[in-house]
Amino acid sequence: MKPGSARPPCRNPHLLRWVEKMAALCEPAAIHWVDGSKQEYDRLCAQLVAAGTFTRLNARRWPGCFHARSDPGDVARVEDRTFICSYSREAAGPNNQWMDPFEMRLKLRGLFRGAMRGRTMYVLPYSMGPVGSPLARIGVQLTDSPYVVVSMRIMARIGLPVFKIIDRDSVRVVPGLHSVGAPLAPGAKDVPWPCNPDKYIVHFPETREIWSYGSGYGGNALLGKKCFALRIASNLARDEGWLAEHMLILGVEDPQGEKTYVAAAFPSACGKTNFAMMIPPPAFQKQGWKIWTVGDDIAWLRPDAEGRLRAINPEAGFFGVAPGTSLRTNPNAMASLARNTIFTNTALTPDGGVWWEGMTDEPPAKCQDWQGNAWTPEIAKATGAKAAHPNSRFTAPAAQCPTIDPDWEKPEGVPISAIVFGGRRAATIPLIYQAFNWTAGVYVGATMGSEATAASTGTTGVLRRDPMAMKPFCGYHMGDYFRHWIAMQKRLSETPRIFHVNWFRKGADGKFLWPGFGDNMRVLKWIVDRSRGRALGRETPIGWMPRHEDLDWTGLKFSREAFEALQAVDRMAWRGEVMSHEELFIELHDRLPKEMIYERELLICRL
Ligand code: GTP
Ligand code: SPV
Ligand code: MN
Repeated sequence: MKPGSARPPCRNPHLLRWVEKMAALCEPAAIHWVDGSKQEYDRLCAQLVAAGTFTRLNARRWPGCFHARSDPGDVARVEDRTFICSYSREAAGPNNQWMDPFEMRLKLRGLFRGAMRGRTMYVLPYSMGPVGSPLARIGVQLTDSPYVVVSMRIMARIGLPVFKIIDRDSVRVVPGLHSVGAPLAPGAKDVPWPCNPDKYIVHFPETREIWSYGSGYGGNALLGKKCFALRIASNLARDEGWLAEHMLILGVEDPQGEKTYVAAAFPSACGKTNFAMMIPPPAFQKQGWKIWTVGDDIAWLRPDAEGRLRAINPEAGFFGVAPGTSLRTNPNAMASLARNTIFTNTALTPDGGVWWEGMTDEPPAKCQDWQGNAWTPEIAKATGAKAAHPNSRFTAPAAQCPTIDPDWEKPEGVPISAIVFGGRRAATIPLIYQAFNWTAGVYVGATMGSEATAASTGTTGVLRRDPMAMKPFCGYHMGDYFRHWIAMQKRLSETPRIFHVNWFRKGADGKFLWPGFGDNMRVLKWIVDRSRGRALGRETPIGWMPRHEDLDWTGLKFSREAFEALQAVDRMAWRGEVMSHEELFIELHDRLPKEMIYERELLICRL
């Protein structure tokens, strides 16, 4: 009872030859051409349930939902196993791990030889961006993971319509080969989450290829997401004059009924999903403010014929951080994930539901933690054990979001008026400021810092430079990337205004100074009003800042003193900040555009 079709539903000779070659290398037991239908999805999910990978959730409370538990060693992106194998080491830059592409190909051939034995190889065509949009791009992923296939059906447009475009337009597709690296010997029993301790996430930027080995998890395995839509696409974008960014896109509808679109780059697990789905405070809603969601993780931005920057969300779903998501913090995410959703590494409740830290004020009396162990609030108190992994995620269709923008699939994208950068910074960085101009804004993005989160393996909490939230995702030299950003100005008739926010500043008591979430609307309103030339602010050494009276405080008691503490620019602390900008620049010096040096000098002078 093998699902789907074993015969190719497409004729493209390059594609057919590549599939044949890769099958000869990986030696799968069968080949399955993915049609993308609901029937195929249902059959694969049933197969995953039978294999023990999926648990079907309580159909009444969580219709169409599944729970998956990964291998405990396969829970996040692996930045130290990620490679950009450009022809030259310099092209990849110090921001990437590089290996000689010839050597890497030899290595990969060894790893992939026979890697799919005993498994089915799925041929999965996908479109990043609405099918047929001039801004969309097509990839084909070969994978031996049915979990990846069903996840990709939520996260991207897949299947027959994409094969059709490949045949009709003979477009260049980005090939991606993926294996969990766990061949099955004849008669051997499979494990629920096959993977390999040895992992390689490899990109060949010149030939636009992706090879991913050893992981079944998120950004390592759903190749359309970080591998294609950011690392490969950043190379395409540089060559073709556009931007591929780690950004959410939202629309702000004001009381006049006018919409302003904003794109915002925050590092992994730093608030993109929450900001993209924000619900304004009641007083703002009453006035007529409304937030519309276009995307929560990736934006492709391109100047149109009039020189306006337009953006599409290349994805079709949300792969969102579960912990902290609740009816209080993000009801739109809760509605999005209420059905047809795959949960990975959350806790499982006895009544066939899911739970994670922060979902409810009261934890369940007992549940199974993300590894399947018994968990109770008492155990948690004694051992600190988390019920859900800090990087546990939901995979939910974007169309289910109550605030999804009516134009979210518009082929030409939405016009962007403001760009926001933001990091997770306990100290020094104020809540909100606006860069003086485009180049100063590029400097603000380039020198962004953030404390590491659980989205990548490694120590969390350590402050690192994460330029434009793209440190793990820029597929070439970061200095060239800054230059490309600066050069974009020449292609634009009107540059978006650039801002920096920090929701995470803490007081001496270690508590957040800012309530965040819905109240971020107060800051967003100022951003929109500034972009439309209808709000005041004051000039400071680092940029324009709102005064207390420039923000709308209706419905929130937030004193002038509290606001000033949140907005304080401590000159001594900023000196330290500027020194660490210099550290980044020294690393990038051979390709750093001179504008960055000048901007730094100007900042030092003003401080
Ligand atoms: P990726 O999917 O990894 O790229 O992450 P993301 O940027 O979409 O992060 P997300 O919105 O899922 O937020 C991650 C964490 O930040 C969650 O634990 C949230 O609760 C927390 N968070 C989001 N917005 C705010 C905020 O305004 N204030 C505070 N204090 N925490 C926030
Ligand atoms: C991120 O880490 O920025 C994510 C999750 O959005 S993953 O797809 O795993 O990269
Ligand atoms: Mn992300």
